Amino acid sequence: MIKGVILAGGKGTRLWPVTKVVGKHFLPVGNKTIIHYPILTLKNAGIKDILIVCGQEHTDQYVKLLGSGSELGVNLYYTIQVDPLGIAHGLGLARSFAENNSVALVLGDNIFGDNLSVAVKKFSKKERGGLIVLKKVSDPQRFGVASFRKDGTIKNIVEKPKKPATNWAVTGFYLYDNRVFDVIKNLKLSNRGEYEITDVNNFYIREGAMDYVKAKKYWVDAGTFDSLHLANILVRKQK
Ligand code: TTP
Repeated sequence: MIKGVILAGGKGTRLWPVTKVVGKHFLPVGNKTIIHYPILTLKNAGIKDILIVCGQEHTDQYVKLLGSGSELGVNLYYTIQVDPLGIAHGLGLARSFAENNSVALVLGDNIFGDNLSVAVKKFSKKERGGLIVLKKVSDPQRFGVASFRKDGTIKNIVEKPKKPATNWAVTGFYLYDNRVFDVIKNLKLSNRGEYEITDVNNFYIREGAMDYVKAKKYWVDAGTFDSLHLANILVRKQK
């Protein structure tokens, strides 16, 4: 079984001053809020038990907006990340929720045009190791960037490289076996003071246990004013 985890804490500094008063994930995209999209991404991939990792200041608003999840056809649970110490740190808080299961992690501001059941099906065949979703982008410097071996497997991921090896960005949808929680426990803080998901991914790559699928439709993280605007255009177009 695979349990879903959505990271919906963070600082949202790139959307200041709006995020001084409104949490990023409550901003509108199309006729919903940003947080609705990762929930629907998981649901459409067949994952219905979902933990939302919230920042402390917005917990009550998440509950008010989403409740038990029954209106959306999912089961929602909530926990609090007191300090935004990174994406891997946020996922680490899901350990007891996940029990012995694998996890599908989605970043709370990521909006996908693809139905990611393709990724879940591929991962479910072995349910060991990890699987990431890659997307070809024109501005790879902003993201984790994958490079490949001759046989097409992933060689490594470099976080925000000045000279990207490829145009393949690592998106905010990840599948991991349950060992991910031990991997996270052994991580060290990065130079920017966070527990990095790229370090988790590189652990699985070194093990030869990291798979990937390529997103074919759009992918946008709605974390800047420009990308929030773009998300609205893309979501409207898809209707
Ligand atoms: P980011 O966009 O990388 O970070 P942020 O939301 O703090 O925004 P900014 O960089 O503008 O300050 O985070 C990606 C997603 O992950 C976003 O939906 C928030 C979430 N997140 C957490 O829940 N906890 C964390 O510790 C971090 C770093 C991010």
